[in-house]
Amino acid sequence: MNDTSQFAFELPSIEGLMATHFLPYFIGIALVTLTTYTWHDYRRSAKTMIQKARTRFPNQPYRMITDFGEVVMLQSEWFQEIRNNPHLTFIGTIAEERICEIPGFEPLATLGEDGMLVRIIATKQLTRSINQVTEPLSEEIALSLSINMGESTDWHEIQVMPALRDITTRMSSRVFLGKELARSKEWLEIMTNYTTATLTAITKLTKYYPAIRPFLGRFTPECKQVQTYYKRARDLIEPVMEQRVALKRAAVAARQPEPVYNDALEWIAKESKEHGFKCDVANFQLMISVVAIGTTSDLLQCTLIDLIRHPETMQAARDEIAQVLQTEGWKKTSLYSMKLLDSILKESQRIKPFFSVPGLTAMRRSVEADITLSDGTLIKKGSRIHIDTHRMVDPEVYENPEEWIGSRFYDLRLQPGKEHLAQLVTTSVDHIGFGHGKHACPGRFFAANELKIALCHLLMKYDWKLAPGTPTNDVNLGFSQRVNPLTKVLCRRRKTMEIDIDSI
Ligand code: HEM
Ligand SMILES: *[C@@H]1O[C@H](CO)[C@@H](O)[C@H](O)[C@H]1NC(C)=O
Repeated sequence: MNDTSQFAFELPSIEGLMATHFLPYFIGIALVTLTTYTWHDYRRSAKTMIQKARTRFPNQPYRMITDFGEVVMLQSEWFQEIRNNPHLTFIGTIAEERICEIPGFEPLATLGEDGMLVRIIATKQLTRSINQVTEPLSEEIALSLSINMGESTDWHEIQVMPALRDITTRMSSRVFLGKELARSKEWLEIMTNYTTATLTAITKLTKYYPAIRPFLGRFTPECKQVQTYYKRARDLIEPVMEQRVALKRAAVAARQPEPVYNDALEWIAKESKEHGFKCDVANFQLMISVVAIGTTSDLLQCTLIDLIRHPETMQAARDEIAQVLQTEGWKKTSLYSMKLLDSILKESQRIKPFFSVPGLTAMRRSVEADITLSDGTLIKKGSRIHIDTHRMVDPEVYENPEEWIGSRFYDLRLQPGKEHLAQLVTTSVDHIGFGHGKHACPGRFFAANELKIALCHLLMKYDWKLAPGTPTNDVNLGFSQRVNPLTKVLCRRRKTMEIDIDSI
C-alpha cells in the first residue's frame, strides 16, 4: 500500500473504528501490517463501512484502506469545495493504479487526453449530428432486439445482461466506427470480450500492491487474454482506416469529391489533428468500449428492472413515447421531449449509481499538490481522494430517498428554476451519477440518447416480467456496485403497439 506518511494522520480511520481508533498513531502502524485483513473487509463490506463512517464521523474526512491503497474519504458535503480544484485529477488515479502500464491495457492510459477528445467530440460533433445519429442508432437497436429477444409472442426467458450488452456494443460501434464494423460479428465479439477480460483482469490485479501489478501483468492468464483481444481489435480497425485513406486518395486523384463518412472515426481524426493530440484510433475506440459499454448497459438493466417493478410507470412511459414519436418522429428534440423517460433514468441512476468507476464513491481524484480544506485538514500531494454518493439518498435532499419514484425528476422539472437541474445530463451536488465538475462524464449526452432510444424499442415492442425466483440484488465488490449479471426476465413480443416504432 502507499506510504502512509503522506497522509493527513490526524484524520480518523474507518478501520480504526474496529479496534485502534483511540490509540495513538504509532500503534496505528500495526494497522498497516494488518492491511490485508482490513482490505478484505473493504472488498466485502465497503458499503457498510462507509455507512458506519458517516454516522461516526459526520461531515468529517476520514481514511480508509482499499484496493487503491489508503484513501482519504470525503463525504458528499465537500463536493462543492473540491470539484473544480485544478490539483485534483482523474487520470492521475489511473496512473497510480499501475495497470495501464501492462501491455493490452494501453487504452486506459489514453483516458486523460482522449477524455478531452471525447469531451470535444461530444459537445461539438455528437450534438451537431445527433439528428443523423438517432436513426442509425434506432436501426441497430431494432436489429439487436430481434437477435436477442426474438419475435415470439409467447413468454420466453432471457438473461438480461448479455442482451443489453449486445445492444450497447452495437450502438456504440455504429456511432464510433460506422456500419462496417458494427455489423461484423467478430468485431462485436472482440469488443465484448476485450471489455469483459479487462474488467476481470483489473479485479484480479487490484488484489495486489500497485508496485507489483505491472510485473504480474506479464504472467497472469487474465492479462494474457486482454493482450490477445487487444491485438485482434487493432488488426480489425486498422484495415478500415487504411481503406478510407485509400478511397480518399483515389477520389482526389480522379478529381472526384472525397467520400464523406458521418461517424466518429472521421471526427476523431479531424479533432485530434486540430487540437494536436496524438490520438491512436484503436486505443481510443477500446477506451470508449471499456468506459462506455459496461456503464451504459448497467444503467439500462437497472432502469428496465425498476420499470418491470412499476408497471403503471412503464405504461405511462409507453404513452409518452407514442405521443412524442407520433408528433415529432426521430429527432434530437423528440428525445428531449421524453421528459418522463428522462426522469425515470435519472431516478434509477440516483438509487443505484452503479459500476466500478464511481460505485459507492462517485469521484476519485489524485492529489497533485498539497491542498487544505476549509476545516483546516491538510491533504498531501500524492494521496487519493474519494467522495461518497450518500447525498443521492439523503432524506435532507430527497423526500423518501429509498423509494423509486419514476416521475420524481419530472415533477422537479415543473418547479420554477429546476427545469435544467432535473435533467438526466445535468450534474449537480445532489446527483453525481455522472460525476460533477471539471471531470464529469463527457459521454453522458451520448449515453442519454442511446439509453432513451433503446428504452423506446424495449418498451414498445415487448412485455416484460421478472423470471420467478431470479436474483436482482446488486453485486458489490469494494467500491464497485453492479447490477446482477444473472438476472433473468420473461419477455414476449407485443401483438399491438401504441405506435409502430420501426416505421417512423
Ligand atoms: C450510463 C452511462 C455512463 C455513466 C453512468 C458514466 C459515468 C462516468 C463517471 C461517474 C465518470 C467520472 C466522473 C468524475 O470523476 O467526475 C465518467 C468519466 C468518463 N466517461 Fe462516462 N459514463 C457513462 C457513459 C460514457 C460514455 C458513453 C462515454 C463515451 C462515449 C464515456 C466517457 C467517459 C470518459 C472519457 C470519462 C473520463 C473523463 C475525464 O477524464 O475527465 N462515459 N463517466
Ligand atoms: C469471445 O469469448 C467467448 C467466450 O469466452 C469465446 O467463445 C469466443 O471465441 C471469443 N471470441 C473471439 C472472437 O475471440
